[in-house]
Amino acid sequence: MPKSIDAKNDLPQAADTLAFFQDLEPPANDFLQDAVNGLSATPKNMSPKYFYDQKGSQLFDAICDTQEYYVTRTEIDLLKSLIPTLNKLAGPNAAIVEYGSGASVKVRTLLEGLDHVSSYLAIDISRAHLINACRVLADDYPDIAIGAICADFTAPIVLPPMSRENGNVVGFLPGSTIGNFAPKEASAFLARAAKMLGKGGSLLMGVDLKKDPAILNAAYNDKQGITAAFNLNLLTRMRGELGAKLDQNTFCHKAFYNDDQGRIEMHLQSETDQTVHLDGQEFTFSAGETIHTENSYKYGLEEFAALAETAGFRAKHSWTDPEGLFSLHWLEVHTE
Ligand code: AVJ
Repeated sequence: MPKSIDAKNDLPQAADTLAFFQDLEPPANDFLQDAVNGLSATPKNMSPKYFYDQKGSQLFDAICDTQEYYVTRTEIDLLKSLIPTLNKLAGPNAAIVEYGSGASVKVRTLLEGLDHVSSYLAIDISRAHLINACRVLADDYPDIAIGAICADFTAPIVLPPMSRENGNVVGFLPGSTIGNFAPKEASAFLARAAKMLGKGGSLLMGVDLKKDPAILNAAYNDKQGITAAFNLNLLTRMRGELGAKLDQNTFCHKAFYNDDQGRIEMHLQSETDQTVHLDGQEFTFSAGETIHTENSYKYGLEEFAALAETAGFRAKHSWTDPEGLFSLHWLEVHTE
C-alpha cells in the first residue's frame, strides 16, 4: 500500500509551512526487495539511492566539504559566475524544480541571484532531510513559494499548479546526479523530464567532466574516509532496517575510475569468505568479492550535449570552470 495514504497523520509539522507537499515516498519494503535481488545477482549490486537515509545524507554533505571532492565548490563558483547569463535565460519569476534536492544548498545561488524566483519545488527521496531543508528555505525566502515532493525523482511526477503561474519552468539537476545513470537510462530520464517541464521549459544541469583519473580517484577516496563511511553506511542500513546479519568490519570501501566505461565505480568489498543472512536467505561472498554500489559517469562537453539532444532537448549553452573540472548545461525542451 502506498505510504502516502496515511502520510497526513505522521507528517512532521514542518511540512505544514510549505506551499505544497506531496508524499510519494517509496514503500519501505522496496529496500528489502531490492537488497535481496541485488545480493542474488551476479555481480552483486545495490542502487545508490539507498545511500541517502538521514545519516547518509549527512555524510554526503560532508563529502561535499572535503578537499578532494572538487564537484560541489566548483559547481557553486561556476553557477555564481553565470548568474547574469542565467538570469537572461530563465527570465523573471521563474519556477525552479530541482530533482534530488538534498540539502538544497546550490539552489540558493539561483534563488538569490535570479531576478525574482516565483516558486521552488524540491524533489528528494530522503523525507526528513527534504522537509528540514525546505523549512529552512521557507524561512529564508518568504517571497518564494517553497514546495516539496518526497519521491524517487525518476518516478512519474506531475508538477503542482503553482509551477506554471508566473514565469518559465526551469528544471535544476546539479551535482552530476545524472552521472548515477548509465547513458541510456540518463537519456530515458531526460526524455521524461522534458515532458514534465513541458513546452517552453528548460533544464539547467551540472555534469562532471572526464579528466585525469588521478583527480577522479582522489575525489572518491578522500583521506578522511568520509566517502568510505558513506559507502559502508549502506551495510548499517541493511542491518538496522532489514535485519541483515553481517559484520561491517569485514567489508571495505573500494572506488576507482573505469576508463572503458567512463565512470567511477564504488564497491563494498568483502575481505573474507563469508555468508550474509538476509530475509531468511544466505548470500555467500568469496574473499575479494564486491557489492557494486554506485556508478558515477563522466562526460565530455559535446558528448553530454549530444546525449541531451537524443532525449528531446536542444543543448543551447554549456560552460566549464577555468580548470575544466566540471560543466553546466542549459537545455531547452524541444517542441516543433
Ligand atoms: C551525488 C551521484 C553526484 O557521483 O559524485 C559522491 C555521489 N558518491 N561520492 C557522485 C557520490 C561518492 C555523487 N552524486
